[in-house]
Amino acid sequence: MLNILYRRRSIRKYKVTKLDSATVQQLLKAALLSPSSKGTQPWQFLVVDDAELLKQLALAKKGAGLLKNAALGIVVLADPAKSDIWVEDAAIAATILHLTAETLGLGSCWVQIRERQFSETESCEEYVRRILGIPENLKVLAIISIGYPDESKPPYSDSDIKFDKVYLNKYGSKF
Ligand SMILES: Cc1cc2nc3c(=O)[nH]c(=O)nc-3n(C[C@H](O)[C@H](O)[C@H](O)COP(=O)(O)O)c2cc1C
Repeated sequence: MLNILYRRRSIRKYKVTKLDSATVQQLLKAALLSPSSKGTQPWQFLVVDDAELLKQLALAKKGAGLLKNAALGIVVLADPAKSDIWVEDAAIAATILHLTAETLGLGSCWVQIRERQFSETESCEEYVRRILGIPENLKVLAIISIGYPDESKPPYSDSDIKFDKVYLNKYGSKF
């Protein structure tokens, strides 16, 4: 696990190669195995592999352009009626997707949708909901863009790890 965490980076450039259905299945299995508060599993996942839709999603905000060239985007949705802490549940599932992509030799990146604006009058969430026909009762947390990497980034090393963020027993006491 630690090796995967050292290697994991946000990858925003992708090859044109599509993902086979077995690989997509593995990603979804991982997401659907995510832990959730009281086991409520409030999340749902919308897999977008249609190039035209990905192009439209790429316009959702400034930091979404990478979706244009992704093999797919997995939209992470949640039903707030199922869990009052759906944000945490959905964020865990999104993280598991991101990490699983790394284990499969794929590149991926989190595209934040919740609390972001498409325009002065429309949130990113409303925009994504409109483009993809998502029902009003579901929240849109993020889109995980995924594809075969067309850029390489250096892995993290021990020198990147900030142990000064960790305390022992009492806040402020060095670990
Ligand atoms: C909650 C969250 C939201 C993010 N939103 C975006 C985004 O909208 N667009 C983007 O290109 N990257 C986004 N990222 C990726 C971060 O920019 C990236 O994780 C950070 O710069 C560290 O780089 P690394 O992932 O390669 O370690 C997001 C990451 C997280 C965890």
